[in-house]
Amino acid sequence: MTLDISSVRRQFPVLRRSINGRPLVYLDSAATAQMPEAVCLAMARWNKEQKSNVHRGMHVLAEESTVAYEDARTAVQKFLNAAHPDEIIFTKGCTESINLVARSWGETHLQEGDAVVLSMLEHHSNVVPWLQLKDRKGSDVLWMDIDEDGMPKLDDLKKHLKTGRVKLVAITALSNVLGIAPDLKTIIAMAHDAGAWVLIDAAQAIAHMPIDVQDLDCDFLAFSGHKLYGPTGIGVLYGKRKLLEKMPPFLGGGMMIRSVTQEGFTPADLPGKFEAGTPPIAEAVGLAAAIEWMQQYSWEDIQAHEQELLRFAIDNLRLIPQLHVLGTDGKSQIINHKSPIVYGCLSFTLDSVHPHDLTEILGRQGIALRAGHHCCMPLHTKLGIPASTRLSVGIYNMKEEIDVCAQAIVDAQKKLHT
Ligand code: ALA
Repeated sequence: MTLDISSVRRQFPVLRRSINGRPLVYLDSAATAQMPEAVCLAMARWNKEQKSNVHRGMHVLAEESTVAYEDARTAVQKFLNAAHPDEIIFTKGCTESINLVARSWGETHLQEGDAVVLSMLEHHSNVVPWLQLKDRKGSDVLWMDIDEDGMPKLDDLKKHLKTGRVKLVAITALSNVLGIAPDLKTIIAMAHDAGAWVLIDAAQAIAHMPIDVQDLDCDFLAFSGHKLYGPTGIGVLYGKRKLLEKMPPFLGGGMMIRSVTQEGFTPADLPGKFEAGTPPIAEAVGLAAAIEWMQQYSWEDIQAHEQELLRFAIDNLRLIPQLHVLGTDGKSQIINHKSPIVYGCLSFTLDSVHPHDLTEILGRQGIALRAGHHCCMPLHTKLGIPASTRLSVGIYNMKEEIDVCAQAIVDAQKKLHT
């Protein structure tokens, strides 16, 4: 289906809202994307007509729920082009997916002196679990710095891999601050050549670029449903079956076992082994509906639209005196490059205006941006700033909204400086 933005917008009930008498301008999809009516309806239908637990009951509702839940797994498998449905583990979010790998794989595969490589672009959810592991196991965390274009330095990776200590490279597919997409294929090939596994944090990328886990050849990949126009409370961990099979369960409880005695337990097969307790069933139904909804549009159209929005935003924001779009100073490729190199978001600073003051003023006018360190303190420290303001786009945004936002920034700047 052609990407007609007016028609897309009509499918998102929240976009009809006014805030303090002004239309909502939602430029915070990197924090959470809005849900189309089709997703809300699919979840409501399950809740109203089918609500039941999965893999337990023999009655009709239980059977329907189990089918819906497993169909959602298959939808995710196809969306990622994973080889098997049991390589898809449902979690409560991307953070939990990464923690699962750190706890389960990390505890059993890392020894003192082994290392995990991260990039300076990483979100805290792909930093803290590895630091926790360092505290528990004595493993190291080694960093890939970024160059002036925001790209992780491959020379740093090469240097770390040469030590022979690296067991895992854990890297984002798309920075939630700079909108930069690292060269994953090269990084994965380099890591594999050195005998290290690769975990991809696809929290941001999942809504902005096609992901094919077999083509990438990544070992693990994590994302959340709510950034993909789906509900909160559900995430996915993709893992290669041969790796997941060797990993112990992360959480203990119902349904993750084959048998339990007073002395011990035998874990269930994949994927149940990693899905202890009642899973997020309504959310899985919602995630499948979100994937189906997105797939009516082509990636080519989605990316062309979002690229146009981001280029328009960069061009207009850079006209504002004392505003600095991060990563776009000087001769950076980010602004000069004609191909889609910034995806989903951009962040900026405004001299003498704290991001929290700016976003509060704009927020009162119905303009939703995010301010702070965006859970990326190492990156902000590297950039020499405590915080920034982020503008992020989704499939439903329009250039007119960027205009409204740019004008509101100019007005706020004047107000705060007089
Ligand atoms: N990870 C989300 C963000 O970047 C919450 O805003």
